[in-house]
Formats: sequence, C-alpha cells, structure tokens
Amino acid sequence: MKKQETNSLEKIVSFCKRRGFVYPSSEIYGGFGAIYDYGHYGILLKNNIRDAWWRAMVQLREDVVGLDSAIFMHPQTWVASGHVAGFNDPQVDCKECKNRFRADHLLEEFGLNLDKATLEEINKALDELRQDKKLKCPVCGSKNLTEAKVFSLMVKSNLGSPTDELSEKSVVYLRPETCGGIYLEYKNVLDTLHPKLPFGIAQVGKAFRNEIVARQFIFRTREFEQMEMQYFLKPEQMEEKYEKWKQLRWDWYLEYGIPKDKIHWYKHEKLAHYASQAYDIEFDFQALGGFKEVEGIHARGDWDLSQHAKSSGADLTYFDDETKERLLPHIMETSVGLNRLLLMFLDNAYTEEDVDPSSAEASEGRGEQRAVLKIDKRLAPVKIAIFPLLKNKPNLVAKAREIYLALRTKYFCEFDDNGNIGKRYRRQDEIGTPYCVTVDFETLEKDDSVTVRDRDSMKQERVPIKDLEQFFLEKFKS
Ligand code: GAP
Repeated sequence: MKKQETNSLEKIVSFCKRRGFVYPSSEIYGGFGAIYDYGHYGILLKNNIRDAWWRAMVQLREDVVGLDSAIFMHPQTWVASGHVAGFNDPQVDCKECKNRFRADHLLEEFGLNLDKATLEEINKALDELRQDKKLKCPVCGSKNLTEAKVFSLMVKSNLGSPTDELSEKSVVYLRPETCGGIYLEYKNVLDTLHPKLPFGIAQVGKAFRNEIVARQFIFRTREFEQMEMQYFLKPEQMEEKYEKWKQLRWDWYLEYGIPKDKIHWYKHEKLAHYASQAYDIEFDFQALGGFKEVEGIHARGDWDLSQHAKSSGADLTYFDDETKERLLPHIMETSVGLNRLLLMFLDNAYTEEDVDPSSAEASEGRGEQRAVLKIDKRLAPVKIAIFPLLKNKPNLVAKAREIYLALRTKYFCEFDDNGNIGKRYRRQDEIGTPYCVTVDFETLEKDDSVTVRDRDSMKQERVPIKDLEQFFLEKFKS
C-alpha cells in the first residue's frame, strides 16, 4: 500500500472537525482565539493518552505519587516563582491592521532563532531587518510595525466579595503551569505519605497562558492541559536521575508507536537562571513543517522550594532518617502538553493510502482509497466496532447487539448498522478502530462465529463468538 502526500495542517484540522475530534470553541459566536473543544473521539483519545502517561509515570512506579491540585492558588505563589515579574513574551503590533505578533516568531521567518533571547537582542535583530527594509507585517504587508515590548502571559482573574472586585487584593492568577500546585503540596505529601528521597509527584491538569499569537491549531493554545512530574532528590543524585528520566521519557514515545527518526533531543543552551540542564523532546510534525517541542525535561535545582520557603515562611526541608541530614531537595521535572501530544499522535497516525488491489476489500469493490488512523491500539478512541451485515435483518441485528453489549463492558465499543460494510470499515479506519466484528448469515446458520477484521492489514478471520473475549484479551494485552 502506498502512503500518499504528507499531512498538511489544513488536512488535520478538517479531519478533526469532520470526525468529531476537535472543534473550534464558541463557533456560533464566530469562534474564540486559540481555544478549542474536544468532541467524542477527541476526548476518548485524550483520555487514553493521559492514562498511558499516568500508567508509566505513577501506576508502574513505586517512587511517584499522584496529585490533583486546584487551578487557583494563593497569588503569592506566582510572585515567589518569578512568573508575575518575568513570564513574558516579546510582542510586536502592526500599526496598520492592528494584528499582534510574537517578535521571536517574526524573526523565525528570517531563519533567526531568538526563542530565549533578551528584549534588547530581539529589538536589535528587528532593527537590522527594518534597516534592510525586510521587516513587514505578515498579514497586511505594512512596514509600520512597533518595536518589541514585553507582554505578560499570566491570565488574571478576581475572586472574593464584590467590594473587593476592583482592588488588587482580589487578583488571582489562573495557573500558567501545573507544577506550582506540586510545590505547594510537597509538604503535605511529605507529612502524610512519608516518601523517601528520591521521589516524584505527578499531576495532570489545565494551565492557562495569554499567548500573544496562539497559532498552529492545538499546538499552542491559551487553555491547555499539562502532564507534569516533579522529582525531588539530593543534589548529588541529579545527574544520574536526569539521564534516567530522559531515557524513560524517550522510550515512552517509542512504546506508543512514534518512530525513532521522528523525534530528537533539543538541548537548551540559554538556561533559565535556576536551571542547570534543559532538554526538549521534539517531534517532526508533518502538519507544522518540522521539528517542534512536545516535552521538556528540566533540572531546576532548589529554586522552587527555596523561593516558596522564603516567601511563605514554611520549613520545606526534608529530614533524612538514615544520614540524620536536613536538606532542601533539588527538583527535576518532566513536563508535557496533553493537547500537543494528541496533535502529535494524529499527525503521526493519519494516513491516506491506496487499498491494495489484491485485497479482499478492493476486489469486493469496496473502494480503492482509504484514510486510516494507524494509532497504537491502546490509544485508539474506539477499540472494537460491531456490525450486523444487514440492518434490515432483525436476527443479525439482535445477535450483533448481544455481542456489542457484552464487549462494551470491557472495551470502548461502537455499534454501527449504517450504510454498507465497506463504508462502515472506512468510517472506523479513519478514527483508528483496530478491530471490526461482523455478524453475518454464517454466524446464525452455520458456526456461531463472526468475522474479525484488522484495521492495518485489512485481513479477516473467523472467530467463534464464545472465544471473542479471549481473542481480544490477547490482542489488547500490554
Ligand atoms: N513546568 C515547566 C513548563 O511549563 P514549558 O516548556 O513552558 O515548561 C511544558 O511547558 C510543555 O507544556 C511544553 O513542552 C508543551 O508541550 C506544553 N505547552 C506549553 N505551552 C503550551 C500552550 N500554550 N499550548 C499547548 N501546550 C503548551
């Protein structure tokens, strides 16, 4: 089977909407910039990715515990962490069309990578382009662009009584990263679960950033979900554990079907003042034209705990029973965007291909082309689809529904009797359903077995109904 042209962003966006994965938010009001909603298959896929991460990071580990902290935290949290003063992006405005751009993104168009540069460095690079008459608004072409200025990414809100509403006292921030809640609950975790160093705290949850230009679909949005794990350790353990976690995270991508040559490490040369090492896993997005960050692995030193200890007055040290030493643990983190991973898995799996002319489906006139989501079975939104061969034969329908009702207690299943079998296969292929079960006349009249068809090979086999449960147990074992 020949794979066809690469996936453009337009193709992925249109597929996501057409098949109920991702919808633009507030569409009936004309949309709402860089916010998206997840439809039926989207939420199923997102939950499966989240569960796969949780399984690797918490369930299969004895040194990591879970947490679900609140989105709102004491406002001082974000002062102590440095976010209120310093979580900014450089912004440029077009004076003609009033569009707003991230200065480092404008510079990217000229092959300049100033991702982590200072405002001065960015303005110097912009000035050089301006002098060469190369700097133009990407929307209207005007050369009337402002210089870059800082733009806070923090999303503000107000909590409290109405009289407080306009006072500074009631200002709260929607968390820009989930790890803030982990630092605040670290002491409670120590006091209640008594973990021994090194140990991790993991959580999945929403984060909010007032991205200047949130482009590229769900790659960069203003509301998104992060999956973060903060690993607390002694400073001398950092090097070994950092390498270990890098390897574990790399292997996770391979385990879930991402080819080795589609990911690589990006080493940050310019580090945040508290970081001693920072690497990103980047994925080669077909739809975004190249390698982009999906996950960051950062050695953060004792910055977070020392800042919060100083700011709150709480004692955040750890007492080592064995060495009788009291110390402030250092932290390394793994941090990944769930929505970004969803885009990565779709980009990697969405395939348009010619159906092998010698295959049963082609020879039965079931279409020469198909779109198929070749995604790991464990991540597939629907695991098994069950069909009666014909929808107007009550005996076939009754048997198919009986199988569906039994299987759905174990797997996410779909019953479908719409259109002919070929169309049903195509619908299930496109959303990545690994197996389709068809109840036909042989089932009722001959052998009490059904046809099971495999998404990738399109091969069919007869399986006795009584063996179906065991059959799928084998197929889905991980
Ligand atoms: N606690 C560390 C931290 O938040 P980050 O590099 O800012 O680090 C980590 O974010 C991950 O979160 C990124 O690699 C990306 O996958 C995801 N992410 C960050 N901003 C995002 C946005 N605006 N939209 C979607 N995902 C985002």
